[in-house]
Amino acid sequence: MTQVKSPFTLTHSAVALLAASTLALTTPAPAQEPVSTSALADNNDPIQRGSYLATAGNCMTCHTREGGDQFAGGVAFHTDFGVIYSTNITSDETSGIGAWTEGQFIRAMHKGKSADGSNLYPAFPYPSFSKVSVQDLTDLFAFFKTVAPSSDTPPDNDMGFPFNQRSLLGVWNYLFFDGARFEADSTQSENWNRGAYLVEGLGHCGTCHTPRNALGGLQSDHALSGGTYNDKVEGDKIRPWSAVNLTSAADGLAAWSEDDIASYLKTGHGGTAGSFGPMNEVITMSSSQLNDGDVRAIALYLKSLAPIERAPQHEMGDQDFRAGELVYTIHCGTCHLPTGLGDPSIGPQLAGSSIVQAEDPASLINVIIYGAETPTPAPPSAWKNMEAFGDKLDDDEIALLSTYLRSNWGNRGGPVTEAHVGKQR
Ligand code: HEC
Ligand code: HEC
Ligand code: HEC
Repeated sequence: MTQVKSPFTLTHSAVALLAASTLALTTPAPAQEPVSTSALADNNDPIQRGSYLATAGNCMTCHTREGGDQFAGGVAFHTDFGVIYSTNITSDETSGIGAWTEGQFIRAMHKGKSADGSNLYPAFPYPSFSKVSVQDLTDLFAFFKTVAPSSDTPPDNDMGFPFNQRSLLGVWNYLFFDGARFEADSTQSENWNRGAYLVEGLGHCGTCHTPRNALGGLQSDHALSGGTYNDKVEGDKIRPWSAVNLTSAADGLAAWSEDDIASYLKTGHGGTAGSFGPMNEVITMSSSQLNDGDVRAIALYLKSLAPIERAPQHEMGDQDFRAGELVYTIHCGTCHLPTGLGDPSIGPQLAGSSIVQAEDPASLINVIIYGAETPTPAPPSAWKNMEAFGDKLDDDEIALLSTYLRSNWGNRGGPVTEAHVGKQR
């Protein structure tokens, strides 16, 4: 069989071939000739291509539990509707997807359906993966055929009625899932399209960074303007994090250059910020392993997003403002400076920070309570880890301090209450 490449990893010479075969399968067909120069452009080996695409999709993190076999599933996802465990996607014929056909795999990724046709929960980001081209999924499938089989079986989901009824997800899909393939925008550059394809497709950035409605549907009119991600911690506890506004809003990435974003995704450190929360895993397991061209394409695409301002303006009373300033001066100002502008060698800038201003203050509170740990291995230019203040400051001090940070230096962001802080403990 002739190996045909994905629309976004094509060489010019393959376009005719592609038009003749793959595109016929993907509807609707892209409006322009989508050509790209990523790591895969000249690679004809479906397994190597699939392996790279699995990295771009970070399949490993969600499908490998601590101490478990690679891709053998069993990772718990705590949703508002109960606990869902990821499945075994190794080549094992009974526990994994070894007996699946390519068609069943493509249907799972494009339509969120398991081999027997039952609906999968959207904790599996098929709403993003539905954007991925058939050719890329064919390569991914070829790669998963080579993953060592594991007979591990994930625990049963822990969901009450009616959420344990997979058939109900048909309604969810009807309401919130359009299932369309990615369509290139002919008015944009090839790199822009590649960035968009990665962000909206395999990269599934919106899974965390797009706000959801009460039923867990992504609010596409607010795409990438900031969402909440529930991370699991010891025991049955979950810790919410705000995945910040990635649009060019003042409470988003307005202050970041393309270089800043690319460096952050490649190393965990860029411009005025470093990663410390759930992004550590996204960066070490996925984005740092993408080639520079792909990371730059993502940065280019993010910088092109029209600003969606989410954080409201808030004025503090004089007395509260001075009380907040005092806590800041005693505990934080030495590193983040009285101006909030930080210092490249001691600590990041808090003026204009999207973490500080996020509509949901969860990540800001987490940094204060639990400190900040850079990813390992630490990026060359990384700051030292920031210590935890959870024992030094009580909930009302943290609330006051957070509100101060969100009301000073031109920052936006509503007030933070003791209840907010309590929720993060
Ligand atoms: C954000 C976490 C997450 C990521 C990333 C993720 N998955 Fe999953 N996946 C899940 C969960 C959770 C399920 C189980 C859903 C269910 O049981 O309804 C699942 C189910 C599946 C299934 C269905 C298996 C079955 O037995 O029905 C396949 C196939 C699959 N994932 C493949 C992949 C591939 C390939 C990637 C990478 C491109 C990937 N997943 C990335 C969380 C994830
Ligand atoms: C000893 C120096 C130091 C002190 C004191 C300190 N920090 Fe930090 N802070 C850091 C460093 C370093 C980072 C970056 C860590 C990383 O990138 O992993 C950071 C990160 C942050 C961030 C994330 C900013 C962003 O946009 O990524 C916030 C918010 C923050 N600190 C707030 C505070 C507050 C509030 C206090 C006082 C309670 C405080 N810090 C005290 C050094 C410090
Ligand atoms: C598992 C959830 C999750 C996924 C998936 C995810 N993010 Fe994040 N992201 C976060 C969280 C939470 C933060 C807050 C800081 C942290 O975790 O270090 C963040 C922070 C960021 C920041 C830094 C903002 C700042 O001011 O410090 C950038 C840039 C970013 N993400 C880009 C992306 C891109 C691009 C993707 C897709 C390739 C992505 N993220 C996928 C959860 C996620």
